[in-house]
Amino acid sequence: MYATDVADDLSEVLYTEAQIQARVKELAAQIDVDYAGKEPLLVGVLNGAVMVMADLFRELTIHAMMDWMAVSSYGSGTQSSGVVRILKDLSTDIVGRHVLVVEDIVDTGLTLTYLLENLASRNPASLKLAAMFRKPEANKVHIDMAYVGFDIPNKFVVGYGLDYDGRYRNLKDVAVLNPGVYA
Ligand code: IMP
Repeated sequence: MYATDVADDLSEVLYTEAQIQARVKELAAQIDVDYAGKEPLLVGVLNGAVMVMADLFRELTIHAMMDWMAVSSYGSGTQSSGVVRILKDLSTDIVGRHVLVVEDIVDTGLTLTYLLENLASRNPASLKLAAMFRKPEANKVHIDMAYVGFDIPNKFVVGYGLDYDGRYRNLKDVAVLNPGVYA
């Protein structure tokens, strides 16, 4: 799906498919260098990170592995609550592994703060974070984000895995959702 297919629901396209893909390639090139010889485990957070994981992972030229977690943040609508529950845990033992968490977007950072603490307690060799999008609020929390795709304005966005009420994940561009859709 492209922005033109749901133009009435969107107020502004922030990044096109081409811009996103170009940035993903840059991030992958950096990860290739930083993790050379380390065979990292990329941990995706379902469901939002599906698109960025699929694209980033295929761009890597080093050996890497993939696993997934699912969390619910007890939020509704467009606000995050910070109360997190693990719905699906890793299948991999991460003791001694180089873990790179892959996220779609970091907004308040509440979800990730919980997740990173939880993963750190399992004694990985290293634990870093890659997020495709970061909102200004994220700067208030002390999460060291090793890889960031784009800094975006503090607006509710959809596309490239990001949904509103389950919809728009299949939008190839990333766009600001018209507030009329959730008002
Ligand atoms: P945080 O805990 O506030 O950082 O939010 C984490 C999760 O909220 C993300 O992984 C997304 O699933 C969701 N989220 C935050 N902002 C947006 C947005 O603008 N569009 C869609 N989902 C969002």
